[in-house]
Amino acid sequence: MHLLITGGCGFVGSAIARWFLSERFLSERFLSERFHSEELDAGSASQGSFRSSLRLTLVDNLMRAGSQTNRASLECLGAEVVIGDLRDRDFVESLPACDWVIDCAANPSVLAGIGPAGIDLSEKNESPSQRLVDHNLGSTIHLLEYCKRHRAGMVLVSSSRVYSIRELASLACRIENSSLLIDWDRIESENRIPGLSRHGIRESFSIEPPLSLYGTTKLASEWLAKEYSNAFDFPLWINRCGILAGAGQFGKADQGIITYWMHRYLYRHPLRMFGFQGTGAQVRDCLHPEDLARLIHLQILETQRLATQHGGQARSSDPPKPITVNVSGGIESAFSLQELHEWCARRWGSERFGPVCNLQRIDQPRPFDAPWIVLDARNARQAWNWEPLRNRLSIWEEIAEHAEENPNWLQISGGID
Ligand SMILES: NC(=O)c1ccc[n+]([C@@H]2O[C@H](COP(=O)([O-])OP(=O)(O)OC[C@H]3O[C@@H](n4cnc5c(N)ncnc54)[C@H](O)[C@@H]3O)[C@@H](O)[C@H]2O)c1
Repeated sequence: MHLLITGGCGFVGSAIARWFLSERFLSERFLSERFHSEELDAGSASQGSFRSSLRLTLVDNLMRAGSQTNRASLECLGAEVVIGDLRDRDFVESLPACDWVIDCAANPSVLAGIGPAGIDLSEKNESPSQRLVDHNLGSTIHLLEYCKRHRAGMVLVSSSRVYSIRELASLACRIENSSLLIDWDRIESENRIPGLSRHGIRESFSIEPPLSLYGTTKLASEWLAKEYSNAFDFPLWINRCGILAGAGQFGKADQGIITYWMHRYLYRHPLRMFGFQGTGAQVRDCLHPEDLARLIHLQILETQRLATQHGGQARSSDPPKPITVNVSGGIESAFSLQELHEWCARRWGSERFGPVCNLQRIDQPRPFDAPWIVLDARNARQAWNWEPLRNRLSIWEEIAEHAEENPNWLQISGGID
């Protein structure tokens, strides 16, 4: 199996690559292959043979500050790293054929592309918005042409930001215990909202613009991917993720918020909470990218199983798998920024690290902010018999330990103003 991971030196792409290269993946794969293959001679098969049959090509242009730090360690683990820009069609055409593209390349910030027009003209005189669309959508189009040519499958890592900001912003909420809580009684009795329940936001929630330029490039990528997959008959899975977080994420104010907040708290850099009266009560979910990798593995295995055992057709007893699913830690993983801040205070509040950082509470809202984004991932759980293994506190603990061990991480990842 040859996997090509775009954005392979980024946080999510590198975490997925590491998971596929890890011993755990190799043993899971070994057991699954033994289970599905009647001819397999238990004596001749070894985990080593699976290791050698897995080829990983990682593609990245290293534009994300910090991404270069992943390159050497991924090469040591056995991945081939190709440096190049997916906006360049000739470059994408020159990539070796593979079985699956796992697309993790993007400029993943909801604020991306909306910088003041005319200021950020460093590359080819492009405006920031043009550049964002080229990176996030233009690159996807090149990859879909690549999948068409090589009949490779595509796994698209999409985002909760495909859901309507206007609908999200209008949810009836109140602040309780440092978090915005949805007024469920009111919504359920007076004003039912399609695609919303106490479990979170479903795939059927409104996708009516505005979504942010970022959200729209992700949604447009999803639509094009579905058209290409249907027209040219290659497999496709779309995973809409909420916050993905873990050690080694690059932290900036507008992307990688948990890492950014923890590092700035620990090393006493000023912090700012925007909107919602500066309470930090806005709520998000979180998931470790290893859990996303486990799901992608199941999606790839299932596609292979159908192709080899049933001529590509699902058995009538198989319920069809949804192509697009929300993938998140769900309501159990939900937290507010204020809760994260209080957790940091409990862990690092003592004077041992110097005077506690200065926190500014600013009532003014940030563009595209929303009070409550918690994805309902029950479709993914049911369809794939999948559930996250890493809970919120284990993710936070992992990031905190990484922060303690890497005092220069924010300088490396562009998180110092
Ligand atoms: N991190 C999250 O919380 C989150 C949540 C939902 C969805 N996602 C999606 O996951 C994917 C990965 O996000 P991430 O957090 O790892 O971001 P990241 O910035 O850490 O990684 C993205 C990588 O893509 C590379 N890249 C960007 N444009 C490229 C291009 N044109 N050619 C080649 N390489 C390019 C960057 O250099 C970077 O290494 C994105 O598609 C994002 O939309 C992320």
